[in-house]
Amino acid sequence: MRALELPPRLRLIAGWVPEGAYLADVGTDHGYLPTWLRLQGKIRGAVASDLRPGPLERAKVTGSLYGTDNIEYRLCNGLAGIRPSEVDTVTIAGMGGETILSILKAAPWTAEGQHTLLLQPQSHEEMVRQYLAKNGFAITREALVRDRGTLYTVMEAKAGKMELSLSQVWGGIGLAHDPLADRYIVEKIVRTQMALAGAKRSTRLQARTEELREILTALLRAREEWRHANRRTN
Ligand SMILES: C[S@@+](CC[C@H](N)C(=O)[O-])C[C@H]1O[C@@H](n2cnc3c(N)ncnc32)[C@H](O)[C@@H]1O
Repeated sequence: MRALELPPRLRLIAGWVPEGAYLADVGTDHGYLPTWLRLQGKIRGAVASDLRPGPLERAKVTGSLYGTDNIEYRLCNGLAGIRPSEVDTVTIAGMGGETILSILKAAPWTAEGQHTLLLQPQSHEEMVRQYLAKNGFAITREALVRDRGTLYTVMEAKAGKMELSLSQVWGGIGLAHDPLADRYIVEKIVRTQMALAGAKRSTRLQARTEELREILTALLRAREEWRHANRRTN
């Protein structure tokens, strides 16, 4: 049997899981992340959960194929079937930002200071950053990873305080020396320009047009800051 290998996106998340953690992997699907972490001996145990029976079955198959112990499989919505005292680290990866937010909103214990969150939204990262800032979390690190041609952001969040500028909400946090950040911000700029062009065509979307203009300015500033931080001096 081939050794289990994680794609770059999950590999980055795995690297941030604290040594000896008890992990909740929400929306585990194939269960690769908890299985790999148990095989490496990096975590002491995990609850691998999914909303749907099919993916949870896939996770069980992965676990039994690799003979991993100390992983429990639970069918539940988000963190609804997981007690705060069972885990110290929560991973929520490969889901839209709105789904991640609904999972966090339904589990306010995640903001009480006992848990590390590792979040990898597939979309609407700005909503996730904004929600965390307004609901008692601080993003303690963020990084970008390219996986099969797509850029993903991974955030580590803990209970805390943070205030974000619009440039950080849209362009990410602490990415000044991330080599992928320029590409990431440029992609956001292009998407915002396209949305702005569409909004400008309708007189009903005046407020939205103004909002998009502000976002665009903030992203251009974020790009300028990244370029300044990465300017070669020789
Ligand atoms: C694209 S897969 C991601 C799998 C894995 N986490 C990864 O990043 O590779 C998304 C999984 O999340 C599950 N899911 C979606 N909404 C969920 C929710 N509210 N609670 C738990 N699982 C959910 C889906 O059933 C699916 O198996």
